[in-house]
Amino acid sequence: SEPLRVAIAGLGTVGAGVIRLLDANGELIARRAGRPIEVVAVSARDRSKDRGVDIDRFDWVDDPTALARHPGADVVVELVGGADGPALALARAALDAGKSFVTANKAMIAHHGFSLAEAAEKADVALKFEAAVAGGIPVIKGLREGAAANAITRVYGILNGTCNYILSKMESDGSDFDAVLSEAQALGYAEADPSFDIDGVDAAHKLSILASLSFGTRPAFDDVATGGVRHVVAADIAEAAALGYRVRLVGMAEADAGGLFQRVHPYLVPLRHPLAHVSDSINAVVAEGNYVGRLFFQGAGAGDGPTASAVVADLIDIARGEFGPAYAMPVESLTAQPVADSGER
Ligand code: HSE
Repeated sequence: SEPLRVAIAGLGTVGAGVIRLLDANGELIARRAGRPIEVVAVSARDRSKDRGVDIDRFDWVDDPTALARHPGADVVVELVGGADGPALALARAALDAGKSFVTANKAMIAHHGFSLAEAAEKADVALKFEAAVAGGIPVIKGLREGAAANAITRVYGILNGTCNYILSKMESDGSDFDAVLSEAQALGYAEADPSFDIDGVDAAHKLSILASLSFGTRPAFDDVATGGVRHVVAADIAEAAALGYRVRLVGMAEADAGGLFQRVHPYLVPLRHPLAHVSDSINAVVAEGNYVGRLFFQGAGAGDGPTASAVVADLIDIARGEFGPAYAMPVESLTAQPVADSGER
C-alpha cells in the first residue's frame, strides 16, 4: 500500500533520532501502521553536519516553511522549536496546505495550540504533539484515549528532566546547584535557553498542555504560577531529607468550580509518594480520574530515542487514519468551556 510520506524540519538530536528509529524499526512500524512510513524531505540549518545518519537520500529544502508545499509530503514533522518564528510559520503553512502536522514543540502548543487546532480541524488533518510533553511517555494518548471515560480531578508531575537531574544530584552528592547545572547541560537535555528549564518555564509549557487535555480548557500558559529551582540550596535538600521529604519541581493542575489552578514550584514530596522516587532525568505524570483512580506514568522525558519514539507513534496513528479531533476534543466544545482563571490559591 501507499507509504505515508513525511517531511522533517529540524535535524538536531530528535530529528536525527526519528530517522534512525524509522531506519531501524521500519518493518515493524510498517506492519503496525498498515503501510510504510517514509521520509521524503528534510530541512535544517546545516546540511553538511555529521549526524550519524545519511540524509543525502532525502530532498533537501533550505527554507523549512517550503516543506509545507512539498508536493511529495503528506505530513510535516516540526522539530525546530520556539513558540513563534519559523516553527509557527511552518505549522500554519502546513495546516493551510492540508498536510497533517506533528511536533515536539511544547512552547508552540502551549501558546498557539488552540488556534493550530482550529486550523487543523478546518483542513480536516491531524495536529499531533505526543513528544511535546514528557518525551517518550505516552501521556497525551493515555489521557486523551486511555482515561477518556473519566472526569480528571487533578494532573501533576515531574515535567522537566534537567531540573530533576539537578535536584537528584544535589541530593545524592550534596553538590551545589551551579556545578550540577553544567553537568545537566552536558547531557544535552537542556533547552536552548537554559533559564526555561531552571525557572520552570518548560515545565509550565507542558503543564498547560496537560491541563488543557485533562479539563477541556484552552491551553492557558500565561495563567501558570511559575517558579523554578534556581534558589534551592544543598541545605534545603538535606533538611527536607531529615524530615522524610524530597525536593522535586512539580507542575500541578486542578480544576473545580472556582476555576483552573496551575502551578509549577519546588515541592516537598513525602517519601511515601511515588514522585519522591523519580530521580535523574526521568519524568513522571500522575492523573486522578473519578473512575480509574490514580494513574502513574513514568519514563524518559527527553533524549533522542524516547522523543523520537513519541514522534513516530504520532506518525503511525496518522498512517492508520486514527487521529481523531485535532486537540483534546472538538474545537467547538473547547470554545464552550470557560477560559482558565488561575493563580495562587
Ligand atoms: N529541557 C527539557 C527537559 C527537554 O529537561 O525536560 C525535554 O522537553
